[in-house]
Amino acid sequence: MPEIIEPFRIKSVEPIRFTTREDRERILRDAKYNPFLIDADDVLIDLLTDSGTSAMSAAQWGAIMTGDESYAGSRSFRRFEAKIQEIFGFKHVIPTHQGRAAEKILMAIAGGSGKIIPNNNHFDTTRANVEFTGAEALDLVIEEGKDPDHLHPFKGNLDLEKLKTLLSRSRDQIPLGMVTVTNNTGGGQPVSMANIKAIAETLHANGKPFIIDSCRFAENAWFIKQREDGYQDKTPLEIAQEMFSHADGATMSLKKDGFGNIGGFLALNDDALAEQARNILILTEGFPTYGGLAGRDLEALAQGLDEVLDPHYLEYRVATVRYLANKLIETGVKIVQPPGGHAVYIDAKRFYSQIPAEQFPAQVFVNELYVAGGIRGVEIGSVMFGRCIDGVEHPADRELVRLALPRRVYTQAHVNYVADVIAEMFGRRDEATGLRITKQAPFLRHFTAELSPL
Ligand code: F0G
Repeated sequence: MPEIIEPFRIKSVEPIRFTTREDRERILRDAKYNPFLIDADDVLIDLLTDSGTSAMSAAQWGAIMTGDESYAGSRSFRRFEAKIQEIFGFKHVIPTHQGRAAEKILMAIAGGSGKIIPNNNHFDTTRANVEFTGAEALDLVIEEGKDPDHLHPFKGNLDLEKLKTLLSRSRDQIPLGMVTVTNNTGGGQPVSMANIKAIAETLHANGKPFIIDSCRFAENAWFIKQREDGYQDKTPLEIAQEMFSHADGATMSLKKDGFGNIGGFLALNDDALAEQARNILILTEGFPTYGGLAGRDLEALAQGLDEVLDPHYLEYRVATVRYLANKLIETGVKIVQPPGGHAVYIDAKRFYSQIPAEQFPAQVFVNELYVAGGIRGVEIGSVMFGRCIDGVEHPADRELVRLALPRRVYTQAHVNYVADVIAEMFGRRDEATGLRITKQAPFLRHFTAELSPL
């Protein structure tokens, strides 16, 4: 088989800025050992997130010029709505400026104290929007999904027995059920069609609506095509259509599989719920035919949704992540297996086994990665999820580093460079020492925390 190649050629480029190791040591020190506080101009390869960082196509940039900026009844909204209805099949399409705005509206309608919202794993913003209303965000991912070495093909699946038990015990407290495709919090892991169907049947048997957090739906569809019996000959579009045919609605961040730099939506079948959602939309986002977006954004996103389902793109996308993962595995680096659709998750606890969780090994990794190669990743460990109670650090159960690949942005040589830098870090891993937090905010401390080397 010939090599899988980038399925595009490059028409417009953006220079990246090289710095020296001495520069980066100073920049990191000035940023208080927190890469979130580094200016993007000082980063060579930015793998902080795959959200809003995609390269748009020539066709998307062209579509931008055709945007209709009318306040009401914009032609661009009609195109956006029609594309979403084609793929997702829901009756009502409610545009929002990004995914969390859709979550906020949904939870304003469905949440509230005493309520419980099950999901495989809630993403941080979903959890925060559930908890903000006083409801409980419950994670029901299968046990295999929690084991970083387990090679289950659909590690994002939701545990049906746990869902059934929950429904039989607390039926009246559950306004709706969710599943996240792919499961970002669990490592970008896919959910099978069989699982989606079974979740839907279980919820519907109890009269509960089923909502899919669909940020990376195209990557999920591709994994189903590769790994689930009966889908090899179906197109990603057909698979996506089938996935959503089981659900009653979706939340979406189009900053992921919409190839957008901004955008999202809430889609629903139920007329009464949609009316409530639109009333909140008008209050917080805008008129229902633009939500939080400009007409030109709606055009670019409609075009992006078409492109993201291209089998050549999806094959290249998933192959890129697997390629980076395999290079790291060859070096001896432990990662969450199998690699997911948008990112590689490195196990920093096993990389820096000499550094205890209280000294933030995953933060040490992101800092070393920056100093060694100008590469930015994100810590998903005790800085993000640990808690400081009465001056004592209570670490998280995992110390991961996510290297998320922006869509269509970096080439294979960039990926080789990332793998080379990590191989060099691996050779010197015994020399690394821990960190302590010197300043932190009471919530979401990872964004602004200040640290210093021990
Ligand atoms: N759901 C999932 C699964 C996500 O990964 C995200 C965002 C959201 C919802 C919220 O969407 O950012 O448009 O408001 N994830 C980004 C990330 C931020 O880096 O993984 P948003």
